[in-house]
Amino acid sequence: MSSPAVIPRALGAANGSVLATRFGYSSLERQRQRLPVFKYRDAILYLVENHATTIIVGETGSGKTTQIPQYLKEAGWAEGGRVIACTQPRRLAVQSVASRVAEEMGVKIGEEVGYTIRFEDQTNPGFSRNYSVIMVDEAHERSISTDMLLGLLKKIQRRRPELRLIISSATIEAKSMSNFFQNRCFVGAIGPKWGLVVAHRIELIYEKDGNETFDQLLILVKEVLEDGSLSIGSHGSKPFGQVEGVVKVRPFGISGGPESMTLGKKVLEHFAMDSVPNQLPAIVSVEGKGYTVDIYYVEEPVSDYLQTTVDTVLLINEKESPGDILVFLTGQDDIDAAVKLLTDATHDDKKRSSGLLILPLFSGLSRVDQDLVFAPTPRGKRKVVISTNIAETSLTLEGVVYVVDSGFSKQRFYNPVSDIESLVVAPISKASARQRAGRAGRVRPGKCFRFTIYLAKKLDFLVFSVGSAVLSSLISFIYCGIFSGRIQGTRLYTEDYFLKEMAADGIPEMQRSNLVSCVIQLKALGIDNILGFDWLASPPPEAMVRALEVLYSLSIVDDDVKLTSPIGYQIAEVPMDPMVSKMVLSACDLGCSEEMTTIAASLSVQSIWVSGRGAQKASDEVKLRFAAAEGDHITFLNVYKGFINSGKSSQWCYKNYVNYHAMKKVVDVKEQLCRLLRRFGLALKSCEQDTQAFHFSVHFVLSHVDGSACAALGLPCSCFILRKAIIAGFFANSCYMEVCLQATSTLFSFIIEHLFATSYFSNLIFSCRNTATMDCTRQLEVLKKYTFILPLYCSGSSLASQIKVNPKWVVYHSLVSTDKHYMRNVIAIDPSWLIEAAPHFYQTRSPNLALY
Ligand code: CDP
Ligand code: MG
Repeated sequence: MSSPAVIPRALGAANGSVLATRFGYSSLERQRQRLPVFKYRDAILYLVENHATTIIVGETGSGKTTQIPQYLKEAGWAEGGRVIACTQPRRLAVQSVASRVAEEMGVKIGEEVGYTIRFEDQTNPGFSRNYSVIMVDEAHERSISTDMLLGLLKKIQRRRPELRLIISSATIEAKSMSNFFQNRCFVGAIGPKWGLVVAHRIELIYEKDGNETFDQLLILVKEVLEDGSLSIGSHGSKPFGQVEGVVKVRPFGISGGPESMTLGKKVLEHFAMDSVPNQLPAIVSVEGKGYTVDIYYVEEPVSDYLQTTVDTVLLINEKESPGDILVFLTGQDDIDAAVKLLTDATHDDKKRSSGLLILPLFSGLSRVDQDLVFAPTPRGKRKVVISTNIAETSLTLEGVVYVVDSGFSKQRFYNPVSDIESLVVAPISKASARQRAGRAGRVRPGKCFRFTIYLAKKLDFLVFSVGSAVLSSLISFIYCGIFSGRIQGTRLYTEDYFLKEMAADGIPEMQRSNLVSCVIQLKALGIDNILGFDWLASPPPEAMVRALEVLYSLSIVDDDVKLTSPIGYQIAEVPMDPMVSKMVLSACDLGCSEEMTTIAASLSVQSIWVSGRGAQKASDEVKLRFAAAEGDHITFLNVYKGFINSGKSSQWCYKNYVNYHAMKKVVDVKEQLCRLLRRFGLALKSCEQDTQAFHFSVHFVLSHVDGSACAALGLPCSCFILRKAIIAGFFANSCYMEVCLQATSTLFSFIIEHLFATSYFSNLIFSCRNTATMDCTRQLEVLKKYTFILPLYCSGSSLASQIKVNPKWVVYHSLVSTDKHYMRNVIAIDPSWLIEAAPHFYQTRSPNLALY
């Protein structure tokens, strides 16, 4: 926590608040009152009371997230069993904000203040889900979930006029958001003789001398309330569609002639709409107290942005007055590398690096490391927080005076044609660059050092035309080509680039992602017409169609594109990728759900391995103890067994290069999955004893394996059944190596390159030719033609020689794109299982299978 933690965490709630008042509450209270948003407290409460939607814009750190829910609570919005909700696009922010709010209120998490993220529910089970206010925070991030939520809330508000929405953000385009929420008002027909009924903030013009009876009018209003618009063609002299939006909402009361008034009142009574709030969104702009930030650009092109970052940090430390430094890089790998470079520098050059406290910040960070980032900087020290764009707006770090901005972030790009989703390093937008710079001006005037990248014109053209989904793959390919891993040899530059070439805003995630999960969630919520859903920005139709195709091939939707029962509905309830959910449900049928829940849980964490501790060779050797020839999924089982047998020991993890926090999460996720399966009435069964189903299972037992790992390796797993269950979910992700034998010289050189590569992506790395270069060919065909397998288990060439099994056919869990596409988490299969599991998919599309 960035403020002094005045409330000992261990205290119970009752004691906590008493002690808090006595020892420190008042100091926290003073801090709360110093926040810019405090001045707007009454205005915000008034507007929320009177408007259905309130849009609040204010710079990061002004107190929106932590204070507004508390103001609402103080004003009584949580009384009568109601609940105030605040949504965040990032998990880390959810936890951090919840604990800050709990601290300020002097209560324990899980009581009056709680939070829930996927697979973790820290809310009070005694509380209802009757939300009085929903605050959609960080709305500018435009994640898929935010966009879906906004569309859904707009729909829900029509049915629940008492529900209040707050849309808050640092940089939101308030006007377009306001328009989005305002369109709910309805204008009926305008005829030659018409009267006006303003039904309490829902405006309805109806034809006075028309033939409507009161009942017909009620039907009309009901439709307005439920759908927001009518599509019944022409009425009076103009079709409904044409006049919609022409007439403004009259926010207050009922007006019109006496007849209209009477009718309006009757309508209100009928729908019990006395307390319907103003439908016109209110906009509040919270003026911050940010200080000026001077911007510096690099003058000469540099060859390595990580090295430049490190040099800049050292230079700031040497030349500039005290104040913390916040560095924006792209992802954990980058951050780890920069931390290492800086740490090395602190050994080599003690003078320039004296007093530096180097701290990474990314979403997978453990709780302990998170707390270090937010703890006040010790006297005489200078914190250097090296972060992903999570510190851009979601989290506030006090004390930052210098920002070092690489100009990049990791972004998702999806190509619905090839079905490849790439997480690539791509330039940020101007809006993001400004946000990042703003982080330097919290406590006093600050400085921001930018490394904006030089890009070819061609690329910019593509960035701007990303609306076309087909092009997005091309973009990611080009990006991949340019920014492979560390951006070496690339020219980094200039103010000119920022001014003339950088995109003004980012592209909403909805328009550059795989939409399978999104579609299934909407279906489960009963939204059948997904293309007609009220989107803030429409997703590309190709991606929608592709998502429906995938769901259909997994038998999650039927011929009428409705969720199937029970599979479709069950899968929609499992908060995981539908392919993983299908794999788990099939495992229940096949009798290996016990193991499969472990595998699914392991796939849900970023990595079960520790990276970046140096000692690559030693860690490779240790990892080999767990390696299974069938592939990574079985390796996960070995690691999990080892972990459980060690009594969930952190020391065991340390010794085996296993990520302790990830494993704790795996245990937790597994438990929740099992609970869910039991709720579905499905049996949890292990295939361990099922010797009938034994298939080959080659484990690499080395002589120096320790006791617990040995036990793990003794796993008599029915990999045959397990792998079939995996295929049930992932049949579409198959690859074979046959064509490798006919490889062209280019492919051959790839093989050579990779055999001797030392980069580490996953236990088992395959590489396939970049499909983005192929002319809109379906991924399946492309992969089948050009995939080849590399025996790189764990990592690097040192291990390649020890593993002799080269499966011809594999399925992979995901593709990772850097300079090439790599398959992450791969399992060897028999191709006949593909036809068995998905005859609808393979008979028609894979003539190559006949080869086997
Ligand atoms: O949402 P917004 O960016 O407007 O501000 P906030 O997150 O509510 O933060 C308001 C204040 O609370 C800032 O001064 C933060 O430093 C502080 N805060 C904190 O100390 N610890 C947290 N986990 C979150 C906020
Ligand atoms: Mg916030």
